[in-house]
Formats: sequence, C-alpha cells, structure tokens
Amino acid sequence: MGRRIIAGNWKMNPVGLKEALKLAKGVESLLKDINNLERVIFPPFVYLYPIKSEVKNIQVGAQNVFYEDKGAFTGEISPKMLKDIGVNWVIVGHSERRHIIGEDNNMILKKVRKSLEEGFRVILCVGETLNERELHRHKEVVKRQLDGVPDGENLIIAYEPVWAIGTGRNAKPEQIEEMHTLIKGETGKMVLYGGSVNPENSDELASVKNVDGFLVGGASLDAEKFYKIALSLIKFQP
Ligand code: PGA
Repeated sequence: MGRRIIAGNWKMNPVGLKEALKLAKGVESLLKDINNLERVIFPPFVYLYPIKSEVKNIQVGAQNVFYEDKGAFTGEISPKMLKDIGVNWVIVGHSERRHIIGEDNNMILKKVRKSLEEGFRVILCVGETLNERELHRHKEVVKRQLDGVPDGENLIIAYEPVWAIGTGRNAKPEQIEEMHTLIKGETGKMVLYGGSVNPENSDELASVKNVDGFLVGGASLDAEKFYKIALSLIKFQP
C-alpha cells in the first residue's frame, strides 16, 4: 500500500477564481511541512489551469471526466485535455454524479477504464443510500458498484455512504471498518473514507483499520480545517 491520502473535493465551489486561487494557495502553504502524506485537491474544471499554473506543491485533479478523446460530446472534457494541462488525478462516480446527474454503473465503468488507460490516478466512489443501509443491502450495493471494475495500479476506491455526505452525520468507525475491509478484500486497493469528515471527528476516523485516507467535501473549502484533518491522518495510524 502507498502512503495515506488526503483528497479535497471542492464540488461546485467556490464561486470566483480569486477565491479558488486563495484557497489552493492556503492549502498548499499549510500542508507544505507535512511529510509522508499524498495530498490532492479537486477544484471545478474552470479553475484547474490557473491553479496548476500558480500552485506547484499540491496535486490537482478533476471531479469528473468523459470516456472519449474528442468529438461531438457537448459539455464534456476528455482525459487527454486534462493531461495536456498537467492534471493527472480524477474522481469518477461520485454519488452526486450518480444521483443528481444520473450516471449509471455502466458509464462510470467506461470512465474508470479510460482514465486508467490514460494513466490517471482514479478515485472511484462507491456507497449505499440510507434506504439501502436500512434494508441491510449496503454490502450487496457496494459489491455491485465494484463489479467489473478493471484492475489498475492507479485505482483507489472511496467509500462514501450517501447518507453521510454533507449531512454532518459521518459513518461510525465500526461501519467504516466493515465496509473498508469488504472493499479491500474485493479489490486489493487503497480505500478512502468520505462523508462528513471534519476536524472534530478526524482523529477517531483516522484510527480506523483499513482507512487509507479521506475524501473531504465541505471541510476542504477551509484550508485550516483541511490541514487539521491531514494531521489526523499522520498522527493516528492504526
Ligand atoms: P462531505 O462530502 O465531506 O461534505 O460530506 C464528501 C464528498 O462528497 O466527497
């Protein structure tokens, strides 16, 4: 396994290039003395190039990508375009893309395959809804989301229960350990946890077995909070 990873998913935030640059620079400077931790931020597409140009000591990734190189795909961005501006990480299959935009497993698999072929580090997100958990179907749902996923050394899985994302209600350590152990058993990959990670719960969550890092949403928009969460990953290795 590689080093633990902290990833910041900015989603559709912040509104304004100036703010985006300020946040990226803030994260870069706060995390600069942390060793032995991979750090990557995922700003909206329009900020990728300016951030890449000005922020050199933190990796930058895209929140989504298409599975073709070019052509008549209005509104889409290809892996080759991202590579051309030096972006080499992508998130694929985030629950907001599955549930709000309507991406299905089939499309997500195509994106994962293409991104791995193009040499990206790929964070594939999986996770059950509240209803699925209440019906005790969480393991089956996540296994299905992992079905047919190609093997690739650059693939990383993020377990993000949908009910924990942006709700302030993180999954419990024992729930996380159970699912991470399952996912690791199925894939052999590093597994990040995501869903309401914040500086108040990050020590506890970083201590959970088989947690290889975090995918942080809301708290990644605050450089100080992101930094504190990064410190937990260093200090609290199980
Ligand atoms: P959250 O989002 O940290 O705001 O819950 C996590 C994610 O969606 O990746």
